[in-house]
Amino acid sequence: PIPVITIDGPSASGKGTVASIVAKKLGFHYLDSGALYRLVALAAFRQNVALDDEQSLANLAAKLDVVFDGGEIWLGKDKVTDEVRSEKCGNGASVVAALPEVRAALLARQRDFCQLPGLVADGRDMGSVVFPDAGTKIFLTASAEVRAERRFKQLKEKGVCAIFENILQDIQERDKRDSARSVAPLQKYADASLLDTTKLTIDEAVDVILKRFE
Ligand code: CDP
Repeated sequence: PIPVITIDGPSASGKGTVASIVAKKLGFHYLDSGALYRLVALAAFRQNVALDDEQSLANLAAKLDVVFDGGEIWLGKDKVTDEVRSEKCGNGASVVAALPEVRAALLARQRDFCQLPGLVADGRDMGSVVFPDAGTKIFLTASAEVRAERRFKQLKEKGVCAIFENILQDIQERDKRDSARSVAPLQKYADASLLDTTKLTIDEAVDVILKRFE
């Protein structure tokens, strides 16, 4: 079987950074599943589709014209790498991700990433729904305060003006919404191993995952 490492966890836990480094070190493919939900939200904003119009959103998701190229993301002819990372798309993603038809429409597309020599998949339901047979399943988390600090630092480095309290509140609201939904709720499932990075650096977290994969 093709080796798969799933890394699930809450918003701003550092999954994305950690997962892409693990993928690079192993020479594996990398699936940023959150980006797909963000792209559905972005496509909806652009085409004036309401975020509660489940059928139209599922259609958008099924037809999403997206290319992941190195670190860049293309939606049709537009490079949207920075735009999909915006808080607006993140919050939109978390709204459309609560719709079962949207999740179903993205399922096959996510499974297409599973190719030799292997895959590292990052998201909320990678180990529970999308790749239930994965050999290594990690639930990566950190305290809400530390996650807010990390995001705050990230934004500051990008020159974006941000208020810490607002970021923390945003993260807590997103956690609540992601945990309360009926499909793919945010939680650590039984066969995933917990990795709390509150006190770990990125490199330390990467090493722990590589050891668990061995
Ligand atoms: O970086 P952050 O964790 O904030 O965002 P992300 O991983 O890009 O995911 C954005 C939103 O998409 C999350 O809040 C989830 O609601 C949703 N999502 C999901 O439902 N299932 C996934 N596999 C990935 C993301």
